[in-house]
Amino acid sequence: MSSSGITFQPVDRIEGQIAVPGDKSISHRALIFSAIASGVSRIEHLLVADDTMSSVRCLRMLGAVIEMEGSTAVIKGSGIDGFKEPDDVMDAGNSGTTARIMLGLLSTQGFFSVLTGDESLRTRPMKRMTIPLAAMGSALDGREHANYLPISVRGGRLKGIDYKMPVPSAQVKTGLIVASMNARGTMTITEPVGTRDHTERMLKAGGVDLKTSERTIRLACSQKPLPINMSIPGDFSSAAFFIGAGIIARHSDVLVTNVGINPGRTGMLDVLKGMGASVDIMNARYEAGEPVADIHVTASKLHGITVEDKRTIVSAIDELPLIAVLAAYAQGRTVVRNAEELRVKESDRIKAVVEGLNHLGVRARDLGDGFQVEGGRVMGGRVSSYGDHRIAMAFAVSSVSSEKETSIDDFGAVSISFPEFMNIFDRVRGV
Ligand code: S3P
Repeated sequence: MSSSGITFQPVDRIEGQIAVPGDKSISHRALIFSAIASGVSRIEHLLVADDTMSSVRCLRMLGAVIEMEGSTAVIKGSGIDGFKEPDDVMDAGNSGTTARIMLGLLSTQGFFSVLTGDESLRTRPMKRMTIPLAAMGSALDGREHANYLPISVRGGRLKGIDYKMPVPSAQVKTGLIVASMNARGTMTITEPVGTRDHTERMLKAGGVDLKTSERTIRLACSQKPLPINMSIPGDFSSAAFFIGAGIIARHSDVLVTNVGINPGRTGMLDVLKGMGASVDIMNARYEAGEPVADIHVTASKLHGITVEDKRTIVSAIDELPLIAVLAAYAQGRTVVRNAEELRVKESDRIKAVVEGLNHLGVRARDLGDGFQVEGGRVMGGRVSSYGDHRIAMAFAVSSVSSEKETSIDDFGAVSISFPEFMNIFDRVRGV
């Protein structure tokens, strides 16, 4: 194995009560909105991982004061007029969320800045962000007409626009809302399909007057959020791996507590129900404006399914590689379509998952805008994570019930969203 590779043996049982780290999407937003607010914010149960530390690093370069103690962050925001020109290139690392929202934030500033990212992020499309920001009056430049990082920005006081997003993206929606915070007029954003609404919930709680319907957001420009005091719910996208492991295990009883169940995130639960899985949502409640619950799963016999409804795809987008793995354990064929966005995530996730499943002895096919998986037995073997955290963890889940061991190259990528993954995974596997 490569130095950061790892080999997992199949296990007979997955069991335990676990809690997962704070939600990644909400953590980025809490950090960024706290830095924009004037005053002191306190955020508990923040995700401390490579991606969220990319947001912290960029915000500090703009002069924000962020103190971290464990998973608690105290942020002294000096308001949207309090940022300073960074004296070096800012690095968003592997984080698409940091990059897209930061482009919106930098566009509110009259100074010069350059944003870059790692090898993966520098191949991911930014035009979806830079086109509307340019229409608002920001000056952005970069390779292929500001489609790829590094991108230079000189913004200032912008103007609100009426924008119809060509691609559903909560990152773009959030970046544009941030850009509106130093602009004249009104901002209207319409999405082709409604995406996760963490931003809208957080800003409404922070006193911003925002009108929302299923796919449209309208707000007066130049509204600033108030400082934030919140505890972030557990990340559904991290909980998903233990839900999946519990379902395909030979024997299991898994309870994941305090998980965010924002409907913009939980498409996987609908898919699992459609496949016959035994999943119970318990103790549903609200925390800091977000729906939260405990999720209980037991071993289930799955059958194949076709997933093509765009709302389901969007709300399961980060879990689709895991769904491909679970489909390998189902009776019959699973087809996922309308998921071309998977090609421009941290890796080409259609390619990564199809190739990986083939290496594990599963018949899987690339459908262009999705994939097809023939369920049955999973032999095991060696796969590449392509340096993508969610691919690495999806294949770790696959190892639970495979015939033989599963080796995953470049497993260190899990630190992007879930540094504690191995500890919790070992605990529920009893190893
Ligand atoms: C995210 C939005 C989604 C998702 C990503 C996090 C967010 O990306 O895949 O993991 O925090 O807004 P898109 O905005 O590209 O759909």
